[in-house]
Amino acid sequence: MCGIIGYSGESNAKDIIIDGLRALEYRGYDSAGLTVFENNRLRTVRTTGRVNSLNEKTAESIRGKQKCGIGHTRWATHGEPSERNAHPQGNDTLMLVHNGIIENNNELKENYIGKNYNFTSDTDTEVIAAVIEKEYKECGDRIQSIRKASERLRGSFALGIVFSDCPDTVFATRKDSPLIVGRSSHGNFIASDISAFRKHTDKYCRLNDYETAVISKNDIVIINREGRSLSPTWHTAESRNDSADIHGFRHFMLKEIYDEPEAMKKTFEAITDNGLPDFSKTVDDDFFRRINSIHITACGTAYHAGLLGGHFIEKLARIPVNVCVASEFRYNDPVTDKNDLVIIISQSGETADSLAALRLMNSRGIRTLSVVNAQGSSMENESDCIIRTHAGAEISVASTKAFHVQVLVLLMIAVKLALVNGKITEEYAKEILKEVQNDFTYNIPDILQRSNSILPVADRLSVHRNVFFIGRGRDSILATEASLKLKEISYINSQAYPAGELKHGTISLIEKGTPVIAVVTDSFFYDKMKSNIREVKARGACVISICHRNAKEITEISDEVILLPEETSSLMPFSASTVIQLLAYHTANALGRDIDKPRNLAKSVTVE
Ligand code: AGP
Repeated sequence: MCGIIGYSGESNAKDIIIDGLRALEYRGYDSAGLTVFENNRLRTVRTTGRVNSLNEKTAESIRGKQKCGIGHTRWATHGEPSERNAHPQGNDTLMLVHNGIIENNNELKENYIGKNYNFTSDTDTEVIAAVIEKEYKECGDRIQSIRKASERLRGSFALGIVFSDCPDTVFATRKDSPLIVGRSSHGNFIASDISAFRKHTDKYCRLNDYETAVISKNDIVIINREGRSLSPTWHTAESRNDSADIHGFRHFMLKEIYDEPEAMKKTFEAITDNGLPDFSKTVDDDFFRRINSIHITACGTAYHAGLLGGHFIEKLARIPVNVCVASEFRYNDPVTDKNDLVIIISQSGETADSLAALRLMNSRGIRTLSVVNAQGSSMENESDCIIRTHAGAEISVASTKAFHVQVLVLLMIAVKLALVNGKITEEYAKEILKEVQNDFTYNIPDILQRSNSILPVADRLSVHRNVFFIGRGRDSILATEASLKLKEISYINSQAYPAGELKHGTISLIEKGTPVIAVVTDSFFYDKMKSNIREVKARGACVISICHRNAKEITEISDEVILLPEETSSLMPFSASTVIQLLAYHTANALGRDIDKPRNLAKSVTVE
C-alpha cells in the first residue's frame, strides 16, 4: 500500500513532506514524489526507488519558499514502478496522491473522460485526477468537484489534492483507505497514518468515508458526504516511544526481535491483574460467555497468530474455532450464528481483507473483537471490542514482535474463555500466566543472548534454494510461520508441512542434502517426530531440529540442533518463535537482502 502526506503551514513544506515520507516509507517504496507550491506555482518531482533519491532530486530542483504540498510513497498496483507512474499524478488543474485501487478506471476513461484526455501514465490515479478536473470545469467548485468525483469512483481511495488555482491549500477525501488530519502549532496535515506527522503534533482526527477535508495554514474544514461541515472528533496519539529509532541495530527487524521481551511485558501487564487475564478495561467477562463458536480471521503472519489462538482456545476452552485467511473468509459466506464471536487480528489495523471481513461480521451483527497494534486504525474504530497490543511501532515489513504480542493476547483470551466457562481452574490459569512471564523474562532474553549460535545454521541454509519446515500440532503452525518469514526476507523458496503429512506426497521432493527444519517443542510428539526425522534422513535430508535442551532423543538423531531453554509446558510457542525469526533474519543477512523492505512487499496491504 502507499503512503500519503499533505501539509500547509509556516514551515518549509518540502522538508516536512520528505521527513514524513521517510516515516511512511514502510508502506511502500518502489517510487516516491511530491508536489509543492513554489512561488504560488505547482512544482512536481517524482523518482523511482527510495525517499532518499527524492530528497536528492528536490534538493537541486526546488529551492524557493514553499509552504504547502503533498507527497507519496508508492507500492505499485496499476502500472509498473517507474517515474511516469509515480505520484503525484494530475494535470494543469490539479495534482493528487492516492492510496487504494479504482476498479472502474477503464470504464471512466472510456465512458466519462473521453478520448481527448492525454494520459501520460498507466495509473488509475491519473484517471481520478481527470475525473475531478472534468467535474471542476463543470461546477467551478473544488469541494463539490471532489465530492462528485468520489461518487463516480468504485474501489478504494485516500486522496491528497492540490489545485493550481488555490495556493497553500490541501484537499483530501477517502473511501476504505485510511486518512487522518493533524493540527500543529505551525501548520496542518493530512496523512495515511500518524507516523507521518507525529514529530509535529499528537493531535489528530480520523476522516470517515466520503468526508472531504480542506486544510490551510490556520484552518481545517471537514465536509460530510451531504456537503455539510462537521466538527471533527480530535484524538491524542500515545506518547512517542522510541520504536521508530533503530538504536544501532543493522536492521529494524533485528531490533524488533530484541524488543520482544519488553513488548510482551507491556502487553501482558495491560491485560492481566493478580496473575489472571483481565480485559475489564475494554469489556466485561460476560462478553466471553454464551459463545457457540469462534471465527478467527487475519492475513499473513497475523493469520498464523490466529491459528495458534485457535489451537489455544480449543485446547483450553473447548469452544470450536474456525480460522480462515481474511481474503477467503470475506467471500466464503461463512456460516455464523448470533452467539458467535469473531476475532480479527492485524498489526496495522488497516489490512483491506481483514477490514472487509470485520465489516461483513458487523453487517451480520456478530460480536467482533479485534487485536490490533497500531493506534488510531480503521479497525480500532469499527470493532465492538478492541484489544490493543503494545509492541510499539513495527517498522520492518516482516512482522516479529507484533506476532509475539498477538499470540500472547490470544493465549490470554483462551485462558479467559476457559475460566469464565468453567473449563479450567484459577490455579491452572495462574500457572499458564506464570509460564508466559517466565518466557519473556528469562527464556527469550536467553535466546537473544545466544543469537550468534544460529549463524552457522543460517549460513548453511543460505546456499539452498529450497527449504522444508515440519512440525506437529502447535509446532506445525510455527513451521508455517517460519516458512513465511524465511521466504519473505531471504527469497529462498520454502514449504511448511505437518510432519505426518510429508509421506503423502511432498517427501518426493527430499533429495540428498535438502535442509529440513524440524520444529519439535512439544514433548507429546517426540516419538512421532523421531519417526518423521528418520523418514526424511533416510532420503538424504539434512535435519536441523529446533527443540528443548532436554529433548535428548531428538538431538541425538538430528544433524544440527538449535536448543531452546528447558521445556516447561506444551503451551508456550514464544521461544521457538524467536528462534525461527532469528534464523530467517540471519539467513537473509547472509544473502545481503534488503531485510526491512523486501522486494514486492509492503508493511500493510490496504488494497485487495
Ligand atoms: C508478515 O511478516 C507480513 N509482513 C504480512 O504477512 C503481514 O502479517 C500481513 O500483511 C498482515 O498485516 P496486518 O497484521 O497489518 O494485518
